[in-house]
Amino acid sequence: MEAVMNNVTIEKAKTSKIKDVDFDNLSFGSIYTDHMLVCDYKNGQWQAPKVVPYQPITLDPSSKIFHYGQSIFEGMKAYKDESGSVWLFRPLENFKRLNKSAKRMAMPELPESYFMDGLTTLLQVDSDWIPQSAGSSLYIRPFMFASGNGFHASPADEYKFIIALAPSGSYFSGKVKVLIEKQYSRAANGGVGFAKTGGNYAGQFYPTRLAAEKGYQQVIWTDDNNHEYIEEAGAMNVFVRINDMLLTAPTNDRILDGITRKSILDIAKDEGIKTEIRKVSVKEVVEAAKNGSLKEMFGAGTAAVVSPISAFGYEGVDYDLPELEDSYASLLKKRITDIQYNRAEDKFGWRHEVV
Ligand SMILES: Cc1ncc(COP(=O)(O)O)c(C=O)c1O
Repeated sequence: MEAVMNNVTIEKAKTSKIKDVDFDNLSFGSIYTDHMLVCDYKNGQWQAPKVVPYQPITLDPSSKIFHYGQSIFEGMKAYKDESGSVWLFRPLENFKRLNKSAKRMAMPELPESYFMDGLTTLLQVDSDWIPQSAGSSLYIRPFMFASGNGFHASPADEYKFIIALAPSGSYFSGKVKVLIEKQYSRAANGGVGFAKTGGNYAGQFYPTRLAAEKGYQQVIWTDDNNHEYIEEAGAMNVFVRINDMLLTAPTNDRILDGITRKSILDIAKDEGIKTEIRKVSVKEVVEAAKNGSLKEMFGAGTAAVVSPISAFGYEGVDYDLPELEDSYASLLKKRITDIQYNRAEDKFGWRHEVV
């Protein structure tokens, strides 16, 4: 049985898996809803998007995704408020970033209506899957990859855009201990660090594993030149508070232009917190840790929202951060999540209702 909503064809799953899900004990991104959105690119254009039952994908072994890694993705969330209304947070920013990544990876850009109408239709079909309990949300994973065939090292002629949904609990529990990286790099000048492409993440796994063996949960990435400046925290942007000044690196072609990062900067300004977007050197962070002016460090990203750092390691020494009662991290996390879950006024116009 097929239906059509917002110009999107819907093929409903015959049975639902929802009764098997324990919504009180959700992990992050490991169970998936009944449906997904699929949109194919062929003959030089995007075909109409469809909502279909969640299912495996069959690909030819010569599909270019397997060989040349043409793949990009986004990460967003849908939030259900107390009255059951469903909200997205700045979804057009994710859409624009998806196309920025697509362009860099020589992949076709997606029309805005396919993204927004496809996503809202999928969310309406699977709305029962959006958790309502505190701290939970529906994680949204839009992604695109080269499904076209051929061993020739050139862009594919066919692609698939898919949106999959995963009801999720919190990403990290508690504070994280991080290692400031001195050897490996996440991204390079002129490279693809600003794009959300799979290889950027695959390249992080090995150094992150080495850090984990030494007791650190995350790596703080530094510039690829001399490893002098702090750039990102794992798959998050990073903030450093020295005295009462909140610092974060400017985005460039090595750093992902995080939506949480820019929202935090706006909220901080609104709270009267002094902010500076500038290069932050490892040296000054180490010195601040030694003289007591380093008050906080935290990662910022959609999955964990704000993730406080308890300690960092650098050149064999661990530096602990103080436990603050009124941290910027908790204030900023509360302000941003209150907007996301429709618990507070949205003076910035960031909330987008799914109707
Ligand atoms: C490398 C990297 N940096 C930063 C972020 C944070 O971006 P956002 O706040 O848009 O989720 C992410 C997550 O998407 C990321 O993968």
